[in-house]
Amino acid sequence: MAQNWLHANLSYHPPEWITSSDMIDPGSPCKPPEYKTLVPLSKPDVAYDLGSTAETWKYFWHVAATVKEFRSHTHGAKGPMTTMLLGERIVLVDLGGRICAFDDKCAHRGASLGLGWIEGDQLRCRYHGWCYNQAGKCTDIPSQQEGDAIPARAKLKEYECEVKYDLIWVRMKGGADTTIPHFPAWDSSEMTCHLGEPYLWPASAGRRIGNFTDVTHFAYGHQGTLGGPPHTRFRPYPVTQHKKRLEFQVDTFLAFNAGDATYGPPTGPDSKMLGPGTYHVHMPFTVLLFFKWSETRDTQIFMHATPIDAENCRSYWYTCHSTDGSSEQEHLALQSIVLTEDLPLVASHRPRAIGESRDEVSVPADKPDIIWRKWMREIAMAAMEGPEALNRTLNETGEY
Ligand code: FES
Ligand SMILES: [Fe+2]
Repeated sequence: MAQNWLHANLSYHPPEWITSSDMIDPGSPCKPPEYKTLVPLSKPDVAYDLGSTAETWKYFWHVAATVKEFRSHTHGAKGPMTTMLLGERIVLVDLGGRICAFDDKCAHRGASLGLGWIEGDQLRCRYHGWCYNQAGKCTDIPSQQEGDAIPARAKLKEYECEVKYDLIWVRMKGGADTTIPHFPAWDSSEMTCHLGEPYLWPASAGRRIGNFTDVTHFAYGHQGTLGGPPHTRFRPYPVTQHKKRLEFQVDTFLAFNAGDATYGPPTGPDSKMLGPGTYHVHMPFTVLLFFKWSETRDTQIFMHATPIDAENCRSYWYTCHSTDGSSEQEHLALQSIVLTEDLPLVASHRPRAIGESRDEVSVPADKPDIIWRKWMREIAMAAMEGPEALNRTLNETGEY
């Protein structure tokens, strides 16, 4: 019954522009592309979390797509692929073996370059055929007379782009000392990582982080899956502020139940309670969760929530565990249950982006979220001053 209600009312279908499609090939010059809506989902003047603006979060690295999505987007596997980041359209393209990210706006009349195609190691716009090289410089304007100079301003705005953990990371604004978060399981020969299917939720990236780092909802939001009364009481655990990240350890009240392939609330006297989970929150929107599932199995969950715009985020995630030959399905299926339970709750927040603190009531058990919100606010204020102030704020440390 609960499941039907959930799917009928709140399952969320991503808009077409974010999904890879094998139905059309925008990279083919011979076939007209299907029309897709390429507009932000929330109005541009809507505030981001805690009164911040898109400009704050442009200083940070965000995931724009998985490498797998990018490579399967066109038959040529090199893009162009349009996606959305911080309310703006960006285009990803492999030019000469390097994945690059540009503002998805042709220098001529602003058409989407995601509708164009690759020619050799260059990107051609579908509208009037202007061609751009790896540096975003226009190299060919077909309508010009032979010998006419190409205007110097015929250039695309390029963003920094890096591939790490099989994810494509983009930073729209440089100058600050921001880095792609460290993901230890990825580099460990003893861990196996499974890439989950990214998901687009109608909630801000901040709302997603708040939900992911909150163990106090396990007993209710995940009753029977991750918890249940009477395990409802949580202390205000110590929170450590390291450079660029928060760290805290919390009881989860999860148990290893013999014969059950998933962790969950204890089911009987033989249930073995798991130790606390450790969270690393890399500011602003990446979380790593570490815990020991059993004597022989360490688990790490990696999650980055990309702000598509102020009110929508797309999460990229891995679930990793000590290599033991267990099936990928087992690990992904459990996460899928948890996400299905979380979605209607996270999608129901009003407002969709975190507003003023006076509009919500917090209690001591919400401590990690309170500290994270405090730092988010400080980051937003510092970013308005500029990259130097932002670096100072990001490198502050403390104990709470
Ligand atoms: S808009 Fe791209 S070539 Fe004219
Ligand atoms: Fe949850």
